[in-house]
Amino acid sequence: MVHSDEYKAKRLERKKRFMQQAKKNNVFKARRRNNFSKRPNFHNHQQENQQEQQFQKQDSTALRQRGFFQVLPTDDLPQVPQCSHGPCLLFEKKNGPEVEETFFACAIYRNQAEFCDFKLTFNKETGEIEVKEAVEGEEDAEKKKKKKKIFGYNRIPKALTEMSPTDTVLYCKTCINVFPNKHECVCEPVEREALERPTHLLPPVNEQHGESQFFFSTETLDVITKAVEKSKVDGILCIGAPRIFENIRALHPEKNVFLLDYDKRFAKFFPSKQYAQYSMLVDHFFDKIAEPKLMEFFDKSKSILMITDPPFGVFMEPLLKSIEKMKKRFVSTGKEETLFYSMIVLPIYIRKYVLHGNFWMSDYRVTYEGHKLYQHSEKTIVRLFTDLPVECIDLKNVAGYKFCEVCDRYVTERNVHCDRCQACTSVEQGKWNHCEKCDKCVKPRYVHCAQCARCHLYGRCIQKHDE
Ligand SMILES: C[S@@+](CC[C@H](N)C(=O)[O-])C[C@H]1O[C@@H](n2cnc3c(N)ncnc32)[C@H](O)[C@@H]1O
Ligand SMILES: [Zn+2]
Ligand SMILES: [Zn+2]
Ligand SMILES: [Zn+2]
Ligand SMILES: [Zn+2]
Ligand SMILES: [Zn+2]
Ligand SMILES: [Zn+2]
Repeated sequence: MVHSDEYKAKRLERKKRFMQQAKKNNVFKARRRNNFSKRPNFHNHQQENQQEQQFQKQDSTALRQRGFFQVLPTDDLPQVPQCSHGPCLLFEKKNGPEVEETFFACAIYRNQAEFCDFKLTFNKETGEIEVKEAVEGEEDAEKKKKKKKIFGYNRIPKALTEMSPTDTVLYCKTCINVFPNKHECVCEPVEREALERPTHLLPPVNEQHGESQFFFSTETLDVITKAVEKSKVDGILCIGAPRIFENIRALHPEKNVFLLDYDKRFAKFFPSKQYAQYSMLVDHFFDKIAEPKLMEFFDKSKSILMITDPPFGVFMEPLLKSIEKMKKRFVSTGKEETLFYSMIVLPIYIRKYVLHGNFWMSDYRVTYEGHKLYQHSEKTIVRLFTDLPVECIDLKNVAGYKFCEVCDRYVTERNVHCDRCQACTSVEQGKWNHCEKCDKCVKPRYVHCAQCARCHLYGRCIQKHDE
């Protein structure tokens, strides 16, 4: 299809406005089509974008802008700079095919303006990292960074053991500590068992471009806990999944559990043999004792289930690398790689990142307590991706699902088994239809287009995008 100059100019103008907005927001976005391992082709990328528009209005501004930033591997570099939040990620900013800049920036917070403005330019050709002269006050910050951190592991359980059973336990939100009978801050009495579940006591950290703590609903917590039980693994590693961790720990004291999370408030509730502060995109432990403790956990576990629920909009390449490193640590204790299972909680539209090998996606709709949209089962776009056997995701007692005898797994009530594909193919809302020409099931509103030799939304021919 040939476009008029006017049409092209309009498009260019739109694109410019979009780029300006992206720059203004200063949000680093991973470049999905530049995934290190899997590069979805052009068609897939277009499909992903359409999907986001359909199901993702709420996150759309943030997520569609992901196209401009790519995270580069740093394994071969002699050094990686650190901001006050640990080692940085290396970003490449592109404008079309042109690389605009390559720089190191925070691996935790993406909103430079508000949370962390650390940025050092990197010269890819010479391998040189920009050197900035320390401004007044920064040296102190440097010193502070190097000062030994006090984590106060297990402070709360320890304080409890020192109290008498008749004492009233007061929990102070400000001090993140417990006190017998009286304390100078305003605080409330608390049941001892409640202190085993800090995700119900601590106010969630909800930074839009960083930690984003959203805890699972009771229903989702039960589904995942049941999966852990059915899997029969004896070691559960939770990365950024504190509510799962505290639940398994409370219900199954016979299991080995370990929590890795950036939020160091958890240290006060758990011992160092079960918790460590960790930066999941750069595989970094903030305490020297943490990695040896994690290795002890791997060593005593016969099999592992790693569960992670990264913040929304996470960069997938570095996350998957960190998971690989975890697997290697486990294998180094003399076990088979096949005894390391994973469960990754992700929005549906980035499924291509994880759907390889033994990984499959459950139809189960993950919900979060208090999340504006995702607290509702019909609105959530978050799903479970796992290489656990299918029978581990048991939705018998969850409303809205049925068992497909042929697929041998639970699917949403609205999913329909396609005899041609030999699978329940509907992934999102509505029934997917089988296209004879494509020889696969396609999304509900897709129609076959002879020109493109594939199915797509009406009027979305490839040529139109292919300028
Ligand atoms: C979306 S919440 C997941 C909580 C989970 N739904 C639950 O109920 O257990 C993300 C978690 O990852 C942690 N987190 C965020 N960014 C992180 C990072 N870069 N490295 C490690 N942990 C991180 C947050 O502190 C938070 O606990
Ligand atoms: Zn930072
Ligand atoms: Zn206090
Ligand atoms: Zn089926
Ligand atoms: Zn089909
Ligand atoms: Zn078709
Ligand atoms: Zn077409």
